[in-house]
Amino acid sequence: MLHRPRALIVDKDSSETKQLVSFLTENGFDVQWAKDGEQAFNLLDRPAPEAAGVSDGSGPEIVITELKAHRVDGMRLLDIAKSRNPEVCVILIADAGTVELATGAMRQGAYDFQLRPLNFEKLLAVIQRALSHQQLVSRVSDLTERLDQRLKVPNLTGNSRAMQELHSKIVQIAPTRATVLIYGETGTGKELIAQAIHQLSPRRNERFVKLHCAELSANIIESELFGHEKGAFTGADQQRKGRFELADQGTLFVDEISEIPPAVQTKLLRVLQDRQFERVGGNETVKVDVRVIAATNRRLELLAARDEFREDLYYRIRVIQVDVPPLRERKEDIPLLVETFIKEFNREHGRKVTGITRGVADRFMQNDWPGNIRELRNTVEEMVVYAQGKRALEVSDLPIQLRQQRSASGEDLNVTVGMSMQEIERRAIEATLRAVGYDKQKAAKILGIGLRTLYRKQKEYGL
Ligand SMILES: Nc1ncnc2c1ncn2[C@@H]1O[C@H](COP(=O)(O)OP(=O)(O)OP(=O)(O)O)[C@@H](O)[C@H]1O
Ligand SMILES: [Mg+2]
Repeated sequence: MLHRPRALIVDKDSSETKQLVSFLTENGFDVQWAKDGEQAFNLLDRPAPEAAGVSDGSGPEIVITELKAHRVDGMRLLDIAKSRNPEVCVILIADAGTVELATGAMRQGAYDFQLRPLNFEKLLAVIQRALSHQQLVSRVSDLTERLDQRLKVPNLTGNSRAMQELHSKIVQIAPTRATVLIYGETGTGKELIAQAIHQLSPRRNERFVKLHCAELSANIIESELFGHEKGAFTGADQQRKGRFELADQGTLFVDEISEIPPAVQTKLLRVLQDRQFERVGGNETVKVDVRVIAATNRRLELLAARDEFREDLYYRIRVIQVDVPPLRERKEDIPLLVETFIKEFNREHGRKVTGITRGVADRFMQNDWPGNIRELRNTVEEMVVYAQGKRALEVSDLPIQLRQQRSASGEDLNVTVGMSMQEIERRAIEATLRAVGYDKQKAAKILGIGLRTLYRKQKEYGL
């Protein structure tokens, strides 16, 4: 922990609490004091940074709370603090009458409880023990994360000419800091390629930060990218760093870059040119060293011709363009991909699938895979999950849509009485996506919903 450990004290205004605040401050803590549970609740219940995909770790490491805190009690605070940060150390202050409750709280994840009158030295010893435990936990998870990332590099499976060319291109461009634009249909591996470029670059030990532009509503993209100052807009109750700052020295992956609103495109252009920007609502110029990798499944040059995307930004971004061919143009990769996925899912689901039969191989090679590698991977996973015993996957194991010849006009929805609206919606979305080859733009248009709504629903239904 490089910063001063943060402690939140929740207790009424008394001389004992005042002494505790100054005692902890003298001992090197950054102390916040909430005089009742409601105030503490508001401090803890800021929108979780994780919700947007980053953690700036701004919550307290230690919460010391009166069990019977006014309005929102200690047990509820325990829940909230844990849901924000599972490693948080919550210490409850109890008195003789509430010991039983306090013991119950420990079963629910409180670190310890202390009886009044408080013994500050003893409390400090408890906190220090908790902190060294936390450090150990975060160091271990940090290490595992890095190991995981390193193991991800060789994941780009495929021997086709197209894949070999892609490999050598990645190896060539990785060491530079040039901006890269990855173009390809959905599920072709754009994100995997971006990760590979980062892992093979001198920035590999720095962060790989991601921003998915279509999953966020247009009006928060700017502050997600560039951060904001305290008071920049309603709800901005503290300064927050954006993805560019988080990715300093590392790589920023801007996914679905076509969805960036025009005003933000201008600002993005400036960072790419000058490597500096201002946070939303601020004047201070922030300098960063970030390599940007962008991805899109829409032709940006066409959007630029229609004035939907800044042309100068397009030229900046595509300094190096990587075109990822759809799977139907490199079907010779299918056998190796299938083999790789079978091994992976055997391990993950404890199965013993040995391979695929000739019939399955034929169907796989005939299929056009509009959802590309993701669709193939999901298909193999589904088949492996259902396969019992040690054997090869057969035609009867194929999902229904692969067993039947796909009809050009789409498919029946199979809506029956008793089905919930949600289920009907899920089926409609799934079938539409399949019918248009997983082209989200097209699907959204047919369904009469916005692209962002489609993303949200896909996430919600796990499609
Ligand atoms: N060459 C490959 N070898 C092995 N797995 C791959 C390969 N390419 C893609 N995958 C897998 O296919 C899935 C989709 O890949 P990825 O998310 O990178 O695609 P994408 O192009 O970003 O898709 P989208 O446009 O929908 O975001 C992932 O599970 C990924 O691991
Ligand atoms: Mg992607």
